[in-house]
Amino acid sequence: LLVFIVLASNEVVAKRHSSTPKLRKYDFPEDFIFGAATSAYQVEGAAHEDGRGPSIWDTFSEKYPQKIKDGSNGSIADDSYHLYKEDVDSPSRGRGFCLVGISKEESTKLPFATIFHWDTPQDLEDAYGGFRGAEIVNDFRDYADICFKNFGDRVKHWMTLNEPLTVVQQGYVAGVMAPERCSKFTNPNCTSGNGATEPYIVGHNLILAHGEAVKVYRKKYKATQKGWNLPYTESSKDRLAAARAMAFTFDYFMEPLVTGKYPVDMVNNVKGGRLPTFTTKQSKMLKGSYDFIGINYYSSSYAKDVPCSSENVTMFSDPCSSVTGEREGGIRDLILYAKYKFKDPVMYITENGRDEASTGKIDLKDSERIDYYARHLKMVQDAISIGANVKGFFAWSLLDNFEWASGYTVRFGLVYVDFNDGRKRYLKKSAHWFRHLLNGKKNN
Ligand code: NOJ
Repeated sequence: LLVFIVLASNEVVAKRHSSTPKLRKYDFPEDFIFGAATSAYQVEGAAHEDGRGPSIWDTFSEKYPQKIKDGSNGSIADDSYHLYKEDVDSPSRGRGFCLVGISKEESTKLPFATIFHWDTPQDLEDAYGGFRGAEIVNDFRDYADICFKNFGDRVKHWMTLNEPLTVVQQGYVAGVMAPERCSKFTNPNCTSGNGATEPYIVGHNLILAHGEAVKVYRKKYKATQKGWNLPYTESSKDRLAAARAMAFTFDYFMEPLVTGKYPVDMVNNVKGGRLPTFTTKQSKMLKGSYDFIGINYYSSSYAKDVPCSSENVTMFSDPCSSVTGEREGGIRDLILYAKYKFKDPVMYITENGRDEASTGKIDLKDSERIDYYARHLKMVQDAISIGANVKGFFAWSLLDNFEWASGYTVRFGLVYVDFNDGRKRYLKKSAHWFRHLLNGKKNN
């Protein structure tokens, strides 16, 4: 499987020096969906309106402004709670909705909704430790049920969790994101968190919460589309190290959904009894608990075989591989990896994009973003032509927004937002580029 990764890396490097690929909508399958993504805490604001209670991100940004590059928070953000109509010409919406797709007729807007994009209610954090507590599994199920019930007439594509790996790594190992828990083995200044066991418990509860939500959906709503967002960060020229690195990242959340078990490389390498196990009943529930998978792709790295760390009971990664460097590309390889390793799933690229630093000036000339999108879309298209079942692509992000620990210092949007002047919106060059891509008609 990993041959794809190795072969493709050379090709990708070669491509970097070529010109920006020219693409139009008709280069993709007819029913392919294009969209642009956002997430509630990053864009909505209106933190105290309409009965919205605080989430762990409100608490985190208030309590530790020094942990956010510009000391900011998302309490106003893009003010999308009030301005959403301007951004998305769609009459229906619910708080927390994350993606909006555009189908083949330009006029049809399809909402793709993510149920959890990191803003755990603070009340649940206080009551039982949020995702540290087993209680979250049923509470998440009930919350998902409310979403299905209220929005299911309009939303036909649901994603349970956004980037569970990031939640675990940044929120419970590194402590740089809410709820600011960490392992003192990786962060000596760590004051909360209980080391290297807790992250695995949180991962476990995330997986089970996903499983329960899917169960209720299938049982009560009999609908067919249910997905899952996954990040991708590793690839390698060293096959076994790369396989282990993949086991601890992508496969970590994928394998339980396909086989009902954690990857063998994790079972073998997480020492000290730290990796929870699924009961037979839980395995059964998880197996096949998705209709499509969502992939969030930004970049990839190389993994290298290294002597196993003796500190391996402290680690939240494979103790015998190190991940270094950054290589451009890899989206095609990851799609093919998922295709061949995990039974040819239906896939959506639920996030892809790049940022630029905020300069304080309105700058709409984002040619590098255009180049990035063109190259990545071309690779998606290559994967489709090899037979991968990719059904859609969502740019991250529709709007410049609150980029978690980076605050407003970086901008990911197709649309520029002036945070100093009434959150005014301006289309960047990339937004025009996307428009051109989508307006393409065959034979003209
Ligand atoms: C991943 C996350 O899902 C999203 O919230 C974040 O803003 C982007 N990637 C960019 O880092």
